[in-house]
Amino acid sequence: MLPQVKIAPSILSADFTRLGDQVEDAIAAGAPYIHVDVMDGHFVPNMTVGPLIVSALKPITARSGVIQDVHLMIEKPERLIPAFVQAGADILTVQVEACTHLHRTVQMIKEAGVKAGVALNPATPLVSLDEILPELDLVLIMSVNPGFGGQVYIPWSTARIARLRQMMESRGLENIEVEVDGGIKAGNAAEIAAAGATVLVVGSAVFNTQASVSANMAALQQALKQVG
Ligand code: DX5
Ligand code: ZN
Repeated sequence: MLPQVKIAPSILSADFTRLGDQVEDAIAAGAPYIHVDVMDGHFVPNMTVGPLIVSALKPITARSGVIQDVHLMIEKPERLIPAFVQAGADILTVQVEACTHLHRTVQMIKEAGVKAGVALNPATPLVSLDEILPELDLVLIMSVNPGFGGQVYIPWSTARIARLRQMMESRGLENIEVEVDGGIKAGNAAEIAAAGATVLVVGSAVFNTQASVSANMAALQQALKQVG
């Protein structure tokens, strides 16, 4: 039986005029993680939120024991690690492509008592994780090119997830979370989980105008029941 696969709703697609309610709805529907997509307009062509949002949401997530899973799609992420730690991030994930001194940046996150993740864009080879992998709590596989919600899942990401899972198991590192981010829907969630993902970041398939957050979460949870 596969470990319980976690759904991490990404607030990127939430209605920001009522962000607190949307996050409460996702938590009420069983989300153990809330994914905060931070973008600086340089590393990716979009700009989103910063530490202010993490601290604004902290009372809501902390009250339910829900993890704030913060994805830094920003250049020089080391500059903002103290601010995101202070704001209450529980996991801080940096893009390998944005880190000249990746080991030092990962150490900085862990020394602050926060879990450390490294994210790879679709074309970044898995071997870039070789040296840092034993230090990590989470690896994030981007299954779209980062910057925007509502994109289509890159199909060969599934094979990549399986190769990562194999790489981790061959080194006795299977307890590291494998998070996948981008283009995940009820229709492909089971395939992605079966390949070895343990955390699914879902934005537009949770927060949209077609159905409620709870209905969308239920559809994803139902789809994941097929796995294992
Ligand atoms: C980077 C973002 C998105 C988002 C997921 O672009 O990280 O991948 O979280 O958005 P959806 O689920 O709408 O693809
Ligand atoms: Zn993300």
